[in-house]
Amino acid sequence: MPVLHDKTVVLGLSGGIACYKAAELVRALVKQGVTVRVVLTRGAAQFITSLTLQTLSGHPVAIDTFDLTQESEIGHIRLADSADVLVIAPATANVIAKLAHGIADDLLTTVALATRAPIVVAPAMNVNMYRNPVVQANLAKLRQLGMHLVDPEAGWLACGYEGEGRLASEASLLEGIKTALTPQVMAGERVLVTAGPTREAIDPVRFISNRSSGKMGFAVAAAARRHGASVVLVTGPTALEAPLGVERIAVTTASEMRDAVLAREPWASVVVMTAAVADYRAAHPARHKIKKGNGSLSLALEQTEDILSEVGARRRADRLLVGFAAETEHGIEHARRKLREKRLDLIVLNDVSQTDAGFDVDTNRVWLISAEGEAEGWPLLDKEVVAERLMERVASLRSSASGPAEPKAGARARRERVAEP
Ligand code: PMT
Repeated sequence: MPVLHDKTVVLGLSGGIACYKAAELVRALVKQGVTVRVVLTRGAAQFITSLTLQTLSGHPVAIDTFDLTQESEIGHIRLADSADVLVIAPATANVIAKLAHGIADDLLTTVALATRAPIVVAPAMNVNMYRNPVVQANLAKLRQLGMHLVDPEAGWLACGYEGEGRLASEASLLEGIKTALTPQVMAGERVLVTAGPTREAIDPVRFISNRSSGKMGFAVAAAARRHGASVVLVTGPTALEAPLGVERIAVTTASEMRDAVLAREPWASVVVMTAAVADYRAAHPARHKIKKGNGSLSLALEQTEDILSEVGARRRADRLLVGFAAETEHGIEHARRKLREKRLDLIVLNDVSQTDAGFDVDTNRVWLISAEGEAEGWPLLDKEVVAERLMERVASLRSSASGPAEPKAGARARRERVAEP
């Protein structure tokens, strides 16, 4: 189940052309199992019909505080209380000014004042309005008040101008909403993550690699960022986009990954190695394409660097080191050995012989093995949720290492009974 499943988002639209994009946002949220209650300002209702949003959300759309029918059916206080998060997208300069000054002259701004839920504000407007010092001062005030801003993108604007002001992409809005709902238990941490496969050349057109898509590692990087950490992601070749706010370092070979990891490892307070690093490479890659001969072909292979072992050998008391283990048999036994030999604090085992876990799927079924060798199985989960839970565990290990064993807020330990691999 996705991270946002079962949450209630109250989505407020204010009057701008970007309202049409909010329809897609409603669809994406509903697809993730979110209850969406839409509130329109009178301006927004000029740009998009409540029928569209009602059809997509499956709930009546609220417009006016003083509509007695709506007030008795929904009620602005009940609406404010029902929200896990209030999202205002698009937010016009006008609504931003009202939020900054506590003005509540319509339903949306009244809900914003009444709610105790986190508030996400996604500005969208003409570039000159966006750059206006008054608007910028109001946005700074919203930040200061603890609201979460999802900055607009630069590009062609519907008003004919070019520059910042375009409503953030759906992916950025979803990430902003998830971040607003996530306790910042990794604030101040510096997390180095590896992801994806490596490619080892056989000749200029062929290589040795594996089925890693990068999904697990990218999910870990996104979860670390969402929990408040600074994140560097060293990744082998994948088709995935870097998570928002994460520094991406692209590499191809195990040797390049090693150099990138060792360069950043002194900076990191937490290292999570999810990459499926090739264990072997061609000892003598051919300079020209190998021609097909008549018989079989033998390739001499040599071992690549074991990056995680090198990082483990540089162990520091103030750093947490997490490895992943991809196994097809005797998983717990092999993972425990890797944990010991690579000097890890935690290893995440996945049985990659299963079709719904491990390589190139959206879900994973993992066992967490602690430094003491204790194994804890988790059920089949979305990789995004595995990453969330892993971050909560990392945060609690970090806090117990740096102080009394008091878990940080939001860090939940869950234990499920899962058959051993
Ligand atoms: O990318 P996805 O499609 O989402 O798939 C996710 C995954 C299956 C790749 C991931 O969940 C996973 O299991 N990653 C570890 C894969 C692996 O190489 O496991 P291993 O048991 O061979 O290695 C153990 C650990 O040593 C890993 O943390 C690995 O990054 C590290 N290692 C391995 C070899 C090597 N030469 N250098 C390393 O640092």
